[in-house]
Amino acid sequence: MSFSLAADLLARPTPFYHYDLGLLRRTLTAVQAAARPRDFHVHYALKANANAPILQTIREFGLGADCVSGNEVKRALETGFLPRDVVFAGVGKSDAEINLALAADIWCFNAESVEELMVLNELAGAQRRTARVALRINPDVDAKTHPHITTGLAANKFGISLTDLPGVVDYLTTLPNLELVGLHAHIGSQITDLTVFADLSHRLNELQTWFADRGQPLAHLNVGGGLGIDYYAPDTNPVPDFEAYFDVFARHLVRRPGQQLHVELGRAIVAQCGTLVSRVLYVKHSQQTQFAILDAGMTELMRPALYQSYHHIENLSSRQPNATYDVVGPICESSDTFGRAVPLPDTRRGDIVVLRSAGAYGEVMSSAYNLRDKAEAVYV
Ligand code: LLP
Repeated sequence: MSFSLAADLLARPTPFYHYDLGLLRRTLTAVQAAARPRDFHVHYALKANANAPILQTIREFGLGADCVSGNEVKRALETGFLPRDVVFAGVGKSDAEINLALAADIWCFNAESVEELMVLNELAGAQRRTARVALRINPDVDAKTHPHITTGLAANKFGISLTDLPGVVDYLTTLPNLELVGLHAHIGSQITDLTVFADLSHRLNELQTWFADRGQPLAHLNVGGGLGIDYYAPDTNPVPDFEAYFDVFARHLVRRPGQQLHVELGRAIVAQCGTLVSRVLYVKHSQQTQFAILDAGMTELMRPALYQSYHHIENLSSRQPNATYDVVGPICESSDTFGRAVPLPDTRRGDIVVLRSAGAYGEVMSSAYNLRDKAEAVYV
């Protein structure tokens, strides 16, 4: 099925985000069908898209929430996620954010440094609470994805290095208001080579043995998110292969009796259900190329400018490409380019052009640069 817009939406002012909640439900059905028989708990990474109707739908399917800011924790709780299904991660949590999450008694803090543990212990003590903590380790596993979205290499700012880990664990056990409940790792995003998840599993197996030898079994393991989607063929592959993904962990990760396994997926759940809809403002011919200038720009969808990422571009007026265009936005930046030499049909002012697979890290990363209005969202 290719993308089309209902007649009433064709007349709507552009740009806007279009979310297909039917596809979101199909995706959620698939993820739970793959996770539940293997007893995996799926948390949704709110950072990918935190719009209320989307969160509501995700909550209805019984996923937990993975948050990286106090406001995300608040949003998750307001949406009805139970505190026991909320985790709070992030390399730089402020005192106010920690206090908010402590007061809500969320399930777990994914902590990343000695100083953070110190502060967390202090703040938990002041609230007369015990904070459950999973240590985020930096497993030094190459996710083989874009350098800007790789997080599990020794050079990245995230997590506790394996060499520091013994010292951090020793320190943690001296802190009276913290309880170590697990380990957390997240190695990167838009991962399409599933063997890297096997590498991660092997690393976690080694660490588990180390913890078991110390007589400190881990109640839960969180392997992060990162499953990629097919940006090139959103109609052929609208739902990621969750079976293959969970299977890698089921085959490679050695699970201790009673141990809970968590994943935190963002992109794989929401990317394909979102489309950025825009109109062509002008077609401009230069000596070297022709530009299709859209009314949507990097302010609505920043990924191409930031990571040179590909989003499939279609002109809804015709399916038969017979020319190429550089598709650009109206913002005063050369990087405000969605694609170069994009095959499109003859394109004219007023044509509707869509950018596909924009449900994750699209609207949430939008900005008001150039004092742009915020694009609205419609849900179908
Ligand atoms: N868990 C942690 C600790 C994370 O840092 C992330 C994403 C996730 C889970 C969810 O990852 P996902 O399943 O969505 O790959 N803005 C970039 C992506 C940044 C991802 C940041 N962390 C992009 O547009 O590609």
